[in-house]
Amino acid sequence: MYNWLRNGLFLLPPEVAHDVALNALSAGRFVGLPRLMGGCAPAAPVELMGLHFPNPVGLAAGLDKNGDHMDALGALGFGFIEVGTVTPKPQPGNPKPRMFRLPEHQALINRLGFNNKGVDHLVERLKSTRYKGIIGANIGKQKDTPVDQAAADYRHCLEKVYPYCDYVTVNISSPNTANLRELQDTGHLSEFLAELVAARDALASQHDGHRPMLVKIAPDWDETALTASLEVIAQSGIDGLIATNTTLDRSAVSGHRHADEAGGLSGAPAKTLADRTLATARGVLGPDFPIIGLGGVTRGEDAADKKRAGANLVQIYTGFIYRGPELIGECIRAWLGADEQGD
Ligand SMILES: Cc1cc2nc3c(=O)[nH]c(=O)nc-3n(C[C@H](O)[C@H](O)[C@H](O)COP(=O)(O)O)c2cc1C
Repeated sequence: MYNWLRNGLFLLPPEVAHDVALNALSAGRFVGLPRLMGGCAPAAPVELMGLHFPNPVGLAAGLDKNGDHMDALGALGFGFIEVGTVTPKPQPGNPKPRMFRLPEHQALINRLGFNNKGVDHLVERLKSTRYKGIIGANIGKQKDTPVDQAAADYRHCLEKVYPYCDYVTVNISSPNTANLRELQDTGHLSEFLAELVAARDALASQHDGHRPMLVKIAPDWDETALTASLEVIAQSGIDGLIATNTTLDRSAVSGHRHADEAGGLSGAPAKTLADRTLATARGVLGPDFPIIGLGGVTRGEDAADKKRAGANLVQIYTGFIYRGPELIGECIRAWLGADEQGD
């Protein structure tokens, strides 16, 4: 059913197709459409960061930036969903066109630029959702906030979403907000994370307990810089890592007519760099540090690879656009299979 729908949707420009698909899914939830499309998501519980995940396959940030479709997406069988990125105030993002399909590669390039309705809108959606599963809220900074003042934006969003979500992701790795990735560098990172960890701890005592806070990193590093930043993360008091965001690297799609579009590349060609970053992170952070593997999962076996590289959970985005909800069950089964092989 999804293949048939996708062929129709792919006749539309990517952003239009995105909105049409999500609105249709949300409208169809009253007649059970998401469940019908979701098929069977086997139980495969994971305990991590004090949370109980019914299965290890989550929806990555960026698909439901404003939390407008949590009920419908939640019914597809995901083990958790991450909404956002949101910023303190609404912002329009970059001029269109800003999203491109590379179907030959099962890939996308986007330079959306944190288009979102602002954190207050997300909070209203989090308050009213009927989805009972685990929700992560992904937060960022306003386009025009200088990097050395960015912590205040993140702190503002953290304080707003904290009471209404299960975990928070600090996104410092989008390639589409100028200079954002500088926050990953050791020069900024330790002070930046210290401020947010202190804010998280203050919130934990004000509200009903601790919410894990994760950092989401890019796949575009040289090994030395990556290791240095991971060492800062390990010492920071942060609860977990998401590896990775989209890549600036185009070597896997060179020659494609969209290859030179500015923005982040995601989907199958992003997998090698994402897996390498994940494996390095596992090595530096040690066996017990919670890591969510993300980037380039378009088949069940890709999810199994994430597990073998050290992921505790996995997220999908571009693969979900190309393959639809059947990818969720396929990933869960492959994940369980990787266990049975003793990997
Ligand atoms: C259109 C689009 C929008 C995205 N928006 C966000 C975002 O707002 N915040 C974020 O942390 N990641 C965002 N991402 C990155 C994804 O969450 C994910 O890290 C990346 O696409 C790699 O995973 P994939 O290969 O499974 O797509 C976006 C990705 C795409 C394709």
